[in-house]
Amino acid sequence: MKNYENVVIFNHPLIRHKIAILRDEKTSMKEFRELIEEITTLMTYEALKDGVPTVQKMMKTPLEVCEQTIVADNAIAIVPILRAGLGMVNGVHVLFPSARVGHIGMYRDEETLEPKEYYCKLPDGIEDKLVLLVDPMLATGGSACDAINLLKKRGCKNIKFMAIIGAPEGISKVAESHPDVQVYVSTLDRQLNENGYILPGLGDAGDRLFGTK
Ligand code: PRP
Ligand code: URA
Repeated sequence: MKNYENVVIFNHPLIRHKIAILRDEKTSMKEFRELIEEITTLMTYEALKDGVPTVQKMMKTPLEVCEQTIVADNAIAIVPILRAGLGMVNGVHVLFPSARVGHIGMYRDEETLEPKEYYCKLPDGIEDKLVLLVDPMLATGGSACDAINLLKKRGCKNIKFMAIIGAPEGISKVAESHPDVQVYVSTLDRQLNENGYILPGLGDAGDRLFGTK
């Protein structure tokens, strides 16, 4: 895969360790859910190290008054792509408890692998926020690209997309279609299979999170 300026692949040993357990077919639904949250928190910490909207505020310590940097109120929105993206919301909320949450519902047509949108509800004023779009799986990239298009139509200008596992095809598609969107992927997998599943991957993230199969 090409190197893209707008793509960061973390490859952090702590995250890789958690992803290894996530992949294991024997990992329980509870543990799977907890790991997705933990990985998301670690990713958010890394992804936002230079990009958190901040403001200056005067604080009074017991000794003197000083100017401090704090996270701006109401500056971040989390947007999960349903269903599997829902599993990542709490992982961001741990760091930004007051972040508003929007939802974009999409499923992939099993034959064509094209994403179909079935739901969209975004917070008022999202166009002025830093939007963290989240989905654990970036396979063909169709769902992420459509979700980003939808956010842009709503006026969002500052979008970051976080996926836990990415296939080369999906990463290239999002990076090239949306060079203005910063993409963060925890680990790059080998390829897609003939059904559009990531290899080695972890199977169907939504089914493993919600126990639907
Ligand atoms: C999965 C996943 C992504 C999408 C990725 O969702 O959570 O949204 O597939 O595939 P793509 O990159 O090829 O578009 P799915 O369509 O299985 O829906 P679900 O989360 O409701 O199970
Ligand atoms: N969606 C998933 O949940 N898993 C894949 O491997 C590809 C798309």
